[in-house]
Amino acid sequence: MDTWQELEQECLRCTRCKLCSGRNNVVFGVGNKQTDILFIGEGPGEQEDLQGVPFVGAAGKFLDDMLSIIELDRTKVYIANIVKCRPPHNRDPEEEEQQACIGYLRRQIELIQPKIIVCLGRIAARQIIYPEYRITREHGQWINRDGIWYTAIYHPSALLRDLSKRPDTFEDLLAIRDKMRFLGINASAE
Ligand code: URA
Repeated sequence: MDTWQELEQECLRCTRCKLCSGRNNVVFGVGNKQTDILFIGEGPGEQEDLQGVPFVGAAGKFLDDMLSIIELDRTKVYIANIVKCRPPHNRDPEEEEQQACIGYLRRQIELIQPKIIVCLGRIAARQIIYPEYRITREHGQWINRDGIWYTAIYHPSALLRDLSKRPDTFEDLLAIRDKMRFLGINASAE
């Protein structure tokens, strides 16, 4: 298995897809590598590309607020994206770009060995849980695969745009807290 350092070095040099040509920074991931809970977004936006850190723009601030509802923060969880380089004009990452990049996330998952994976939005849910995932219908549901519990919640950007989705997400967040308790996860900062 890789070390974190090997994986990150390889990812920072990556030219596997065309997104490399427009990037300022590869956005590898942030947070606690010893965590039991991994959050997966879609791909970097403008601020993330400029700073090299996931979820630092408006959606990121909102994600921090969401985490704080269940007493989590970036010192207690790990946050990564399906694609590590910014798609131009914040378009959805293409399937080809996702496929080129997904190996890095798989290796991050192997290193972290999380007990819970939370997909943020449709793109991550479809790539990680299953390809036909319907976020509107299936958010907040849980599946266990190979000992890992998977769920998806609305993407923070969707919650910024559409206030009507927030009550459901509040419930989904409480369910994540309950699942952590059920699994005996004590998400203290390490
Ligand atoms: N949206 C994402 O999905 N990921 C980020 O890192 C920022 C915004």
